[in-house]
Amino acid sequence: MDEIDIPEAIREESRPKQANFVLSLPLILGVITCLGLVGLLSMFLISLGNKSTPTAVNQPVTKPASPTLKGKNNQQQPTPAAQNISPKNKQTSLQNSSKTGTTAKSSQETLLGHLPYDVAPESELVPITVDDRLKLRPAAAKKFQQMQAAAKADGVNLAAISAFRSTKDQEKLFFKVKEQKAQNATTRAEVSAPPGYSEHHTGYALDIGDANAPATNVEETFANTAAFRWLKQNALKYSFELSFPPNNPQGVNYEPWHWRFVGDRDSLETFYKARN
Ligand code: DAL
Ligand code: ZN
Repeated sequence: MDEIDIPEAIREESRPKQANFVLSLPLILGVITCLGLVGLLSMFLISLGNKSTPTAVNQPVTKPASPTLKGKNNQQQPTPAAQNISPKNKQTSLQNSSKTGTTAKSSQETLLGHLPYDVAPESELVPITVDDRLKLRPAAAKKFQQMQAAAKADGVNLAAISAFRSTKDQEKLFFKVKEQKAQNATTRAEVSAPPGYSEHHTGYALDIGDANAPATNVEETFANTAAFRWLKQNALKYSFELSFPPNNPQGVNYEPWHWRFVGDRDSLETFYKARN
């Protein structure tokens, strides 16, 4: 049949459909190319935006006291949550200590990897030893004594070796011993905090030994004692946690003997806000 015989409207419909598709192909390709370019541009802009977010800025401010930790510190030990200095929680503004009313320094002011702490008011401390020589804040003292009694019931003798320390005490420990051992400040700071920067100032931290193995006092070998094994299993039930596990973010040497109380608001703020 001749095209001329077909009515005009029908002629239009009977044109091959493929011809329409071929005609619109360049248009489809153009749209796809444009969408691709828009996508690439968006990804580029997003990556630029991510680079300038606070997350990248808020890296932990604490630097290791020494670039390398001793190999003997690298054994696996429990890592308390407190050791995870969280960049997202970092806060640089000054904070108020809830109990003393004094202003705590920002954690930006770390010294050789140690964080600044307010000194507990000595009038608030209570003894934890029969000779009254060692003291802690009341909440920590009560829990330590409960923990000590529970350990004893299990045949383990936890001995308090050192508890609250004034800045003067810490001054002696840091500078005198540093001279005696002819250490530089960085090496000294691997095992001792400078005055003003010790957890012992807070009245919430103490050094614990095994009364049946005094040779391991304040030594890494304390980790092999029955006392340490018991603490590892039970200390959290009394809100005591290890402050300096192996490879801690502060770069302090592994101290299996040094425990801190985080069982009330003030102690929790003392240790966790200091890290924000
Ligand atoms: N030994 C710990 C780091 C202190 O001196 O507080
Ligand atoms: Zn200690």
